[in-house]
Amino acid sequence: MGVYHILGGRPLQGRIRVQKSKNAVLPMIAAALLCEEKIVLKGCPFISDVCDMVEILQNLGAEVWWEDSDLCLECRKIEKDTVEGALAEKMRSSVLFLGSLLGRKKRAVVHAPGGCTIGKRPTDLHQMAMTQLGAGVEEKNCEICAETKQLKGNLIVFPRVSVGATENAILAGTLARGVTVLENCAREPEILHLCRFLNQMGAKIEGAGTSEIVIRGVQRLEGCTFCVPSDRIAAGTYLMAGAATRGRIILEDAPVDEMGAVLDVYEKMGGQYAVIGGTLVTESRNVHLAVPYLETSGYPGFPTDLQSLYLAVAVTLEGGSRIRETIFEDRMRTAWELKKMGAKVTIEGQEIRTETSKLLGADVTSTDLRGGAALAIAALGAEGITTVHKIHLIERGYEQFPRTLSALGGRILVEKEAID
Ligand code: EPZ
Repeated sequence: MGVYHILGGRPLQGRIRVQKSKNAVLPMIAAALLCEEKIVLKGCPFISDVCDMVEILQNLGAEVWWEDSDLCLECRKIEKDTVEGALAEKMRSSVLFLGSLLGRKKRAVVHAPGGCTIGKRPTDLHQMAMTQLGAGVEEKNCEICAETKQLKGNLIVFPRVSVGATENAILAGTLARGVTVLENCAREPEILHLCRFLNQMGAKIEGAGTSEIVIRGVQRLEGCTFCVPSDRIAAGTYLMAGAATRGRIILEDAPVDEMGAVLDVYEKMGGQYAVIGGTLVTESRNVHLAVPYLETSGYPGFPTDLQSLYLAVAVTLEGGSRIRETIFEDRMRTAWELKKMGAKVTIEGQEIRTETSKLLGADVTSTDLRGGAALAIAALGAEGITTVHKIHLIERGYEQFPRTLSALGGRILVEKEAID
């Protein structure tokens, strides 16, 4: 639990190193189940979602330990095939143990996952993929039970694009007998990183990053050491923090190649940037114009995970913005929290409309991981003091969040024991 007290009004400036990717490393932790040898995930972010996925793996019988910022995993003895509710409900990624437990144990009982309350977030596409690969799947009492004598390669055509379901199908197909073809896959970079990781262990996966992926099943995987890639959403978050305060931020290790849509919006707002080696140098003093219309979409479109971060900046810009959320049906609640700070916003269906506003400090509550971060950066650009509640949601995905903002000149006080 706990709160942040943030005093706004000062442009952020300075140099930070972008953390490694939460959404890339979580499926890799689930994938570790497919290998009996030692795996090292170098630079793994120390965030609560990683700790919760590690706890699930240890509960299944794996040895997992940290060596500095490297996460070491050894799944030699996996005695269990069940992920209990108390653990599964902590985050969405627990559902990825469905595919990897099936691949390892040919049986999986996974309690319905938790995660950000940004919509219903069903698992029908995950279950469909497992069924297509030859598993009997049943959902009862909030548990997904799946079992198979042998996973067999097959054609899986996703009726709708899903990052997690694509990842689960890849995890189950890796050790399946025969060839699996996935069509209408998600194209997010995190899927490309997962397949590179699996191929480094001996998997045979082609097409990652496109909408068709081909997996040739193999008998076993070998241990490896893999460098976790930088987090494109964290990088976008700090970019928007610079924009919210009209500051100048240098982002080392920013995955610029994965940030095209975000940088395009940043430039339209008046932001200026340069890429020097692996460093993104940003200048936000001329940020002043809201983008008239912005729609979230799957990669390489504007990421839904940065929708509320853009919103937190848009409300301070000239001209209105219409923001359409197309991925999750309930990911607009941060708008109501920003209203408490004086933001002129209206919600009509899946659209948020903004007008130029002056943000003043207020008492606000994080509704989800990215929405909480959005409130923090809005507070940095606001006049006066803002208290952000439920900071544990933010700390699920951002490593050293308050320390990073302080390093950029943000005035942020953490009150850990405060009642949410
Ligand atoms: C991943 O969630 C990310 N999480 C999310 O980031 C991200 O917002 C999302 O992909 C979209 O890019 C992780 O990688 C851990 P989906 P995921 O399956 O896999 C519907 C963050 O802040 N759907 O692509 O759960 C679903 O309800 C998090 O880091 C079904 O209908 O997203 C949604 O409307 C938040 N049935 C849409 O598809 C299913 O079986 C896209 O969801 C699965 C999904």
